[in-house]
Amino acid sequence: MRTPIIAGNWKMNTTLEEGKALARAIRERGDSTQGVEKVVCPPFVSLEAIGKVLAGSTIAVGAQNTHEEPKGAFTGEVSIEMLRDLVKYVIVGHSERRTLFGETDAGTAAKARAIAGAGLRAIVCVGETLEVRESGNAVETVRNQLAASLDGFDTWGSLVVAYEPVWAIGTGRAASPEIAEEMMGALRTRLAELSDSSSASNTPILYGGSVNASNIALFMEQPDVDGALVGGASLDAEEFCRILGEASATGM
Ligand code: PGA
Repeated sequence: MRTPIIAGNWKMNTTLEEGKALARAIRERGDSTQGVEKVVCPPFVSLEAIGKVLAGSTIAVGAQNTHEEPKGAFTGEVSIEMLRDLVKYVIVGHSERRTLFGETDAGTAAKARAIAGAGLRAIVCVGETLEVRESGNAVETVRNQLAASLDGFDTWGSLVVAYEPVWAIGTGRAASPEIAEEMMGALRTRLAELSDSSSASNTPILYGGSVNASNIALFMEQPDVDGALVGGASLDAEEFCRILGEASATGM
């Protein structure tokens, strides 16, 4: 039985004070929600402060990115060594990193290995563009993306995968639950080829792309959907905690 995970990706939003207020509000409303792993992923500069706001709560903290090297001359970067005492999860390979910052499958795989090596959980994101979907190659594309983004990875028990179709991110046009299930089933099959069937069946696979409190239950009903990576709706404590509540109700 996979415990559902709902992770809020705050992206480049919230000042320190705004982030602390959001974390406090999420703690107040969401701390007692059971049967779902709750995660918030604030900007790097707020991680320590938000860790303090959430200390002793049931809400975990994640980072939105990392560099794969432990330290060195990489101006502007943040290493996993710097993050390991602050977070439990790290998102890698998000489509915004891939399209806006030129990140590759190989770079994502290096980061995922570094995260697992530090004893943290990588949330490895994959997803097709609208162009690929319309050309009929979505399944093949994300299967290949997953394999390349997990090159050399073998710490299966720590892995979380997120399927986020690029056309659904921030657009208000979520994938249908049927599309999500088809794609996530295909990803689980690919995962079994890369690892083994028991690792694949134990790996949480999250859906991401315009998730909100009104559509989360439809996704959670799908057998291969184990939760969600939530962007815009995670910036509103009430909405995010309603999503947690819905996921908890379907996950138990
Ligand atoms: P969204 O973003 O929920 O705003 O579509 C999801 C994501 O980018 O992880």
